[in-house]
Amino acid sequence: MGMAIERLVEPTMAQNDSEEERIEISLRPVTFVEYIGQEHLKNNLKLAIEAVKKRADGSTLDHILLYGPPGLGKTTMAGVIAHELGASLRVTSGPAIERAGDLASILTNLKDGDVLFIDEIHRLRRAVEEVLYSAMEDYKLDIVIGKGPAARSVRLDLPHFTVIGATTRTGSLAGPLRDRFGIIHRLEYYKEPEIEQILRRTAGILKTEIQPEACSLLATRSRLTPRIANRIFKRVRDYADVNGDGIVDTKIAADALKLMEIDELGLDPADRNMLKLMIENYGDRPVGLTTIAALTGDEATTIEDFYEPYLLQLGLLMRTPKGRVVTEKGRKHLQELGNMI
Ligand SMILES: Nc1ncnc2c1ncn2[C@@H]1O[C@H](COP(=O)(O)OP(=O)(O)OP(=O)(O)O)[C@@H](O)[C@H]1O
Ligand SMILES: [Mg+2]
Repeated sequence: MGMAIERLVEPTMAQNDSEEERIEISLRPVTFVEYIGQEHLKNNLKLAIEAVKKRADGSTLDHILLYGPPGLGKTTMAGVIAHELGASLRVTSGPAIERAGDLASILTNLKDGDVLFIDEIHRLRRAVEEVLYSAMEDYKLDIVIGKGPAARSVRLDLPHFTVIGATTRTGSLAGPLRDRFGIIHRLEYYKEPEIEQILRRTAGILKTEIQPEACSLLATRSRLTPRIANRIFKRVRDYADVNGDGIVDTKIAADALKLMEIDELGLDPADRNMLKLMIENYGDRPVGLTTIAALTGDEATTIEDFYEPYLLQLGLLMRTPKGRVVTEKGRKHLQELGNMI
């Protein structure tokens, strides 16, 4: 049932392998110039950052909420913003902050102008979230000292910081928290030429020659997602080193993609398996998320966050009030692949 193999296209962070991590860091854009695509977001942010710098009266950048499917560059963008502001970046995540006290200690250790990045902000606990509201709103921290009748509440002043929140789903973010963000922006899937540009940049950093046609081939298979483009590129580069002279040409790229079982649309065996199971068991009737999860052996959230967004984007899958349906296009795609699955 559950896929034991690690999905190549799974848009999560790289494993804790140090070589992998080192490469990951070297590929991560640091400035707006290096950050390819998302022009609309960049233009908005550049303006906001310039305004803050120009005012130079101690005012800080508005809190920023970035949302969108995994691997599109939210974490990267948080780093770029801090860099362009000349601020230091403190990184944490929703699930990592267990108690209100943990958040309090993070906040009291910040300095004026610091950027606090909270990944998976939709997973903050309710009690923690409430502390965050007032901290974001007026840079105050309410803490209770003592217990029982002797308990009293104290209001602490906090440094003026900027929160950058990242989430794959804004739907699960509490309204009051959402309201504290001055800038809310959705990261979009990249355009193919932008993915090509990212691949060329990656090839350059990893000192690997890639031919233009091979580059466009890989771009069509990368789910319009930088993390996946980089991950596929690294595998193709290994393949070129082992089976060729290290140069990534069209043949090498096509052969490596075949080995990875990534099809023309960028789907991997796990995606195809999900679509196939849905069709086999439900035909063109809608299927609930938990049922799909039971079919594939995955967590419902994994399906919602990782598989579904790109399948929806491609129009292979449709969301209806009664559940998910494989579209005509989805069925055709599986039929055309025939024996690949
Ligand atoms: N605009 C970009 N230009 C070049 N490379 C990029 C860009 N965006 C992301 N990348 C590359 O893709 C990788 C994944 O990006 P990142 O970790 O920022 O995604 P994310 O949106 O935070 O994903 P998640 O939701 O899984 O945390 C980065 O390590 C970086 O190398
Ligand atoms: Mg991230």
